[in-house]
Amino acid sequence: MEQYAIKGGNPLVGEVEIGGAKNAALPILAASVMTDDTVYIDNIPDVWDIRVLLKAMENIGVMVRRENRHKVTINGANINSLVADDEYIRRIRGSYYLIGAMLGKYHYAEVALPGGCDIGCRAIDQHIKGFRALGAEVCIEHGLVKTQAERLVGNHIYMDISSVGATINVMMAAVLAEGRTIIENAAKEPHVVDLANFLNSMGADIKGAGTDVIRIRGVEKLHGSDYTIIQDQIEAGTYMFAAAVTKGDVVVKNVIPKHLESISAKLLEIGCEVKEIDDCVRVVASKPLMHTHVKTLPYPGFPTDMQAQITVALGISKGTSIVTESIFENRFKYVDELIKMGANIKVEGGDTAIIDGVEKYTGASISAPDLRAGAALVLAGLAADGITVVDNIHYIARGYEDFHQKLRTLGAQIELVNSERELQKFRLKVG
Ligand code: EPU
Repeated sequence: MEQYAIKGGNPLVGEVEIGGAKNAALPILAASVMTDDTVYIDNIPDVWDIRVLLKAMENIGVMVRRENRHKVTINGANINSLVADDEYIRRIRGSYYLIGAMLGKYHYAEVALPGGCDIGCRAIDQHIKGFRALGAEVCIEHGLVKTQAERLVGNHIYMDISSVGATINVMMAAVLAEGRTIIENAAKEPHVVDLANFLNSMGADIKGAGTDVIRIRGVEKLHGSDYTIIQDQIEAGTYMFAAAVTKGDVVVKNVIPKHLESISAKLLEIGCEVKEIDDCVRVVASKPLMHTHVKTLPYPGFPTDMQAQITVALGISKGTSIVTESIFENRFKYVDELIKMGANIKVEGGDTAIIDGVEKYTGASISAPDLRAGAALVLAGLAADGITVVDNIHYIARGYEDFHQKLRTLGAQIELVNSERELQKFRLKVG
């Protein structure tokens, strides 16, 4: 089983290049089957979730051609099955974007209920509510979401929860519906905006993405496009916190600083220097980290996908901090692992972590419970005294391209090991 072996203590220094946003690429790839024309998508991250979605799309007859590691050509003219139910579909969350895409284009879709990280109940009632409002029948049978419509007709839809997935799915179905759709209390995340921009580049008429009211005028059909996905806000934020916890100095390149404002604000509060230079942010952590409080919120609030990374930083900051998770119910599972490394954190009521900062972490054998927490635990290992071994790192590969390689270019002592022997070799090498 693959593990990361980490010798902590090196300040990370240097430059790191950020790739395309996974959570924008997933819906954009799914939406690219909504036309029979060819679509070219650039800047896709080469991560496991994306590979799995592309495989699932191929399995229903979509032509997928990799032009290079980050560019793909897609043609959905010859889809031969409107039933997407295979081992791939069931593994990832993003597969449910095929429901909105196929419902919009073919008025029919059967897609296996999605998987994804186990971070709490991940209901899809708002997706279903939106599809029904557009005139579709929806039911869940034998593990599949089945939806069909004679006609899709625009409607006024109020989302009870600001849901990224539901906003995206309903937006996709609505672009090919008759008439106008208004989505209120829409999610405003950068990936929602990126999908809207992509759909508009295919001939859709979407206005207001990025605000909480999205207005869509249905069009008859969509055409081909050549589109470049935005940079990954969470990958960037993760390296910014890697600089903070290792007392480093890292220039995170190729980012959209606007998308990082809530993350930069918290880094400043805890005593780091953060400088924006064009499409780069430089994080310097030369002073001891200070405590703060943070609550995860929908964009532009502090992202739930950065909650574990900031908790790792606060775990070695001076004073007491409180982290409140308001998006998912079960996103503190990694805290037990941090406690093995010496953290003093108590989780109360499932959604609040009370953190008494300790001076340092100490290396331990720990296990990644999900994607973002896995990355955060690696950061803890990089900050810790001694050697940390992280298990279940396949989670990290779902969303971070070349994670350990990028960290190594910043001076991290981290290696992918496959056996006890390789781990021993690492121990000997790093002393
Ligand atoms: N919710 C409902 N009903 C719904 C939809 C959502 O109650 O119909 C609830 C969820 O249970 C959750 C909250 O609303 O408590 C927010 O869920 P949302 O739909 O916004 O999240 P998602 O679409 O399942 C995406 C990302 C997550 C990210 C969240 C929040 C993808 C594939 N996943 O999930 O990313 O945490 O938005 O920003 O885009 C990750 O990348 O590691 C990851 C988990």
